[in-house]
Amino acid sequence: MKYTSTLVSLALLLAGSVVEAAHISNLHTLKQAQVHKRRSGASATYSVSTASATATGTPTSSASSAAVSATSSSSASGASFSSGIKRGLSFNDASLTEQFSAEQVSFAYNWGQTYSGSIPENVMYIPMLWSDSDSFTSTWSTNAQAAIDNGTEFLMGFNEPDLNTQANMTPEQAAQAWTTYMEPFAGKAKLVGPAITNGGAPMGETWLNEFIGNCTSCTIDVYAIHIYDSATNEAYYKSYISDFASTYGKTTWVTEFGATGSDSDIQTFLGDMVSYLDGLDGVGAYAWFMDEVGNLVNSDGSLTTLAETYVS
Ligand SMILES: *[C@@H]1O[C@H](CO)[C@@H](O)[C@H](O)[C@H]1NC(C)=O
Ligand SMILES: *[C@@H]1O[C@H](CO)[C@@H](O)[C@H](O)[C@H]1NC(C)=O
Repeated sequence: MKYTSTLVSLALLLAGSVVEAAHISNLHTLKQAQVHKRRSGASATYSVSTASATATGTPTSSASSAAVSATSSSSASGASFSSGIKRGLSFNDASLTEQFSAEQVSFAYNWGQTYSGSIPENVMYIPMLWSDSDSFTSTWSTNAQAAIDNGTEFLMGFNEPDLNTQANMTPEQAAQAWTTYMEPFAGKAKLVGPAITNGGAPMGETWLNEFIGNCTSCTIDVYAIHIYDSATNEAYYKSYISDFASTYGKTTWVTEFGATGSDSDIQTFLGDMVSYLDGLDGVGAYAWFMDEVGNLVNSDGSLTTLAETYVS
């Protein structure tokens, strides 16, 4: 199941209209930037977590005991957060989360299993098993359990396994890995399924259907999706997300969404999408891509105009 970009584009193109072809070129442009950031994020996180796990046996910072005893305003009910706040942060650098608050975001994740530094009080950190490669699976049980012990109520499994430049796993491979590494945590935390892209077959929902077909005795409490397109194409996002949620009939988390376009288009888009996602029952959580300098925050960590829109 390896696809070159060209083949994927071609397949998507053949499957769709001219409008969809425009989606693809946007998706591609955006994915290049995204892949780069997440690769550096994931590997940075991984080396941090290795060092931290070796040194202390726990991935949490020294602030963890205080945080454990704090009342958790973001405690989870079902497949969403009891605070009612669906909004979250995706980050590589925890210091860039510090000027957000638990009144604005319920959760934060970094595609990794641990983080260094601190995230705002009462914001739930959610670890992810990025793929089934040894470098991630070898530390997963320890890190996932440590997060649960610290109050984390969700675990995420696999980042864009349907994309060859991301976790790149076949549905069958992912089902086996889920059974081995994620399933032992069923009932201890809510399990957030593989985060698929909005690519056409064999990616996206096609990949997910085959995963589900291979994972019939797997516990998947939440389905996770990513979506990228043009900021002027809100209708596409809305129909994709609402169709997904109603098709799969399980709470959906939009763990990454982003858009190409001018600053003002993106500003309008994000404001509209936040209202839309907040009001859509099938969606339990969402995270804009991403909490980084020049996007949600300035270099001193203060919130940008875009972030003000995101959290308002
Ligand atoms: C876990 O510990 C960190 C500090 O290390 C804290 O900021 C966080 O709120 C704690 N709780 C959860 C649910 O992540
Ligand atoms: C299991 O996954 C493979 C690809 O990895 C796919 O070909 C097959 O159809 C899937 N099985 C089911 C029952 O969906």
